[in-house]
Amino acid sequence: MSTPAVLVLVHAFPFGAAMWRRQLTAFPGWRVVAPPLPGFDGHPRLPQPTIDAYARDLLETLDRTGIDRAVFLGLSMGGYTLFGVLRQAAERVQGLILADTRTSVDSPDRRTARERSIQLARTVGPSAIADEMIPNILGTTTRSSRPEVVADVRAMIESQPAETIAAGLEAMMTRPDSAPVLDRITVPTTIIVGDEDTVTPVSDAEFMHRAVRGSTLVTIPSSGHMTNLETPDAFDDAVRASLAQWRR
Ligand code: MLT
Repeated sequence: MSTPAVLVLVHAFPFGAAMWRRQLTAFPGWRVVAPPLPGFDGHPRLPQPTIDAYARDLLETLDRTGIDRAVFLGLSMGGYTLFGVLRQAAERVQGLILADTRTSVDSPDRRTARERSIQLARTVGPSAIADEMIPNILGTTTRSSRPEVVADVRAMIESQPAETIAAGLEAMMTRPDSAPVLDRITVPTTIIVGDEDTVTPVSDAEFMHRAVRGSTLVTIPSSGHMTNLETPDAFDDAVRASLAQWRR
């Protein structure tokens, strides 16, 4: 692989670029960017939110920033979006880090739950979404022993507009099956997952690891779904190890 210089961080739902605060300066020698997806952090919303439209918007943002090719790191919804990038512009991807994500579509029950969450976001607001999500996205270790992470996650969720949250839920619930993308991936790939992740569990990561030729799987102990926030040292080490290897 030619020397990559740019690392693009793609955030989870319903976080903006703030979730990458620490990672922005964790990889010396790399230009690290964390563009917000539509509606997040004041970035314009899309009339018809879909994951592939998020991917298109991300590519357009990179065009405007003068970034042609990069290593991409996506966590959860960020990973769903990267599958869209691979569908639309695989030639722009020099390396891939898929963290706490999955290729499968929502089950009917999950879609029903998303519809309820859309109503909740619109009627009660982002704090109700934080209440609903925190027990799921943060691992048991974080919920019992890292109160500062719980508070930070709540603040980040509550900072996003209700309509952006509703749009994100709509985009995720209509996302396509991305399994067919996996065996077309030819760039170096690392898959990261927290061993306490119940949203996109270790079994999802193992599925992607089996399907992507030559990929590396890193399982992070004592971490739930938000590995970069819950166990940042281990997360950054895993990313750094991949970047160092790919740059040789
Ligand atoms: C995320 O972390 O981006 C979302 O919670 C993923 C999902 O709900 O499918």
